Amino acid sequence: MNSTSILRQKTSLQESVQEILNQQMAVEAHSSALYLSMSAWCYAQGLRGTGEFFRKQADEEREHMMKIFNYITHAGGLAVSPETSNIERNFTDLRSILVMSLEQEIQITENFNKMTEHCQKARDYQTARFLQWYLDEQYEEEKQARRCIEIFDQMNSKDAIFDIDREIHDLKKKD
Ligand SMILES: [Fe+2]
Ligand SMILES: [Fe+2]
Repeated sequence: MNSTSILRQKTSLQESVQEILNQQMAVEAHSSALYLSMSAWCYAQGLRGTGEFFRKQADEEREHMMKIFNYITHAGGLAVSPETSNIERNFTDLRSILVMSLEQEIQITENFNKMTEHCQKARDYQTARFLQWYLDEQYEEEKQARRCIEIFDQMNSKDAIFDIDREIHDLKKKD
């Protein structure tokens, strides 16, 4: 019998790496649920374009979660189906939602930076490479969230709210 541990025979993932991946699955699940909540609020205000924008965003966050799920399971690890709780439902206005969205994306970018650093220190270069996709994705997500706030601030007047709604909706069609 050589010194390879039983755990290592089952999975290529180190325990600490599996743990941070599972934690991030929960963050993506929370992010998806929060965007769905924002979507519901927008639809309820008659802002259908922004409602659809955030509904698509919720779908994308679930895809992010499932990509990690697949990575863990295909590496022979154990993915943990996350619980979601404390989802914000009381929003005051569209701008505060847009700001909340950007703040959340910035926080998630920071998570991936820390995770990548962790994997490099643990010499798990395969997972570090897997996480690169998320860093690229976060760059796009932050860009889009910033653009939403720019659109709001540049166009904002009481008469323009439906134009803002349409512009934000159209962001999902553009690059
Ligand atoms: Fe995400
Ligand atoms: Fe995101």
